[in-house]
Amino acid sequence: MKSVTLGEFIIEKQYDFKYATGELSSILSSIRLASKIVHHELNKAGLAEHILGAVGTENIQGEEQQKLDLYANDVFIKALKNREIVCGITSEEDDDFVAFDGESMNGNYVVAMDPLDGSSNIDVNVSVGTIFSVYRRISPAGTPVVLEDFLQPGTEQVAGGYVLYGSSTMLIYTTGNGTNGFTYDSSLGTFYLSHPDMQTSKDGKIFSMNEGNYNRTSQGLRNYIDYTKGIDKATNRPYTARYIGSLVADFHRNLLKGGVYVYPSTDESPKGKLRLLYECNPLAFIIEQAGGKATDGEKRIMELKPTELHQRVPFIVGSSNMVDTIHEFIKEN
Ligand code: AHG
Ligand code: MN
Ligand code: MN
Repeated sequence: MKSVTLGEFIIEKQYDFKYATGELSSILSSIRLASKIVHHELNKAGLAEHILGAVGTENIQGEEQQKLDLYANDVFIKALKNREIVCGITSEEDDDFVAFDGESMNGNYVVAMDPLDGSSNIDVNVSVGTIFSVYRRISPAGTPVVLEDFLQPGTEQVAGGYVLYGSSTMLIYTTGNGTNGFTYDSSLGTFYLSHPDMQTSKDGKIFSMNEGNYNRTSQGLRNYIDYTKGIDKATNRPYTARYIGSLVADFHRNLLKGGVYVYPSTDESPKGKLRLLYECNPLAFIIEQAGGKATDGEKRIMELKPTELHQRVPFIVGSSNMVDTIHEFIKEN
């Protein structure tokens, strides 16, 4: 099989992109570089005490920050700022967006990112990820980036993707022309196209949710959870329960195997846990490009108009028929 590298693929596909300036290619190359740096640091995590564990601070969402959260945040921000094409970034780890100054103010793009997703899993050597979403700015180039540049609906994304630091490191992205996956060969320092034009199955068998929240969710969803455990040959039940607790890893498995991931609204968190801008929207873009669906239990995720940077939203994502069935259960109650 001919080996296509991520670098070659980005260049080859840049003319499919509606702005076709090469700028988006440059952003993707920055993300590729940053993900390699994070990959190598993560692989040392078990050995290096200075990067394991918590820093003792919380982010704006009250979550304990891990050293590697902040490290990855720094690496991605530096890599994206360096090429002076991105004019600002919003990240899970920063209370407010970061506006780049100097030449970067002429950049046409903003990026929303979760630099390290599933970070509580690092200390136990379980897969983590990076999630990113790229938009074209609304404010004029040459001026400082403004909040509105980040509060665009997911339908306006020009690219979305994630890096999974798992048993292999993979980078998966879409620019709206299909979803493609690349696997990292760390001995060569190169990502190769390993999963071209990914498609998820319409029906799946995997159900992924933190079922510890069962008694805190709606009656409709509880009925669906009970349904997944029912025994019925015709509908291929019981389903298989799989939940890692790293969104990227849970999402990736379901994308490949067919399944549905649910992080619902709960009594304690009526808007769920996951963040619209840098967790749900990019994954919604990826799954739609792979033939699946992503909703908040009612509406399409990508059509929601964000009102704040760290906005949370209930998230149902995966095989389209499974998402539809969950909607039916929710509507009945
Ligand atoms: P992050 O590490 O970026 O804060 O994200 C953690 C998220 C996500 O990765 C995962 O699916 C979810 O939190 C798990 O939450 P629960 O522990 O409540 O199941
Ligand atoms: Mn996350
Ligand atoms: Mn995170």
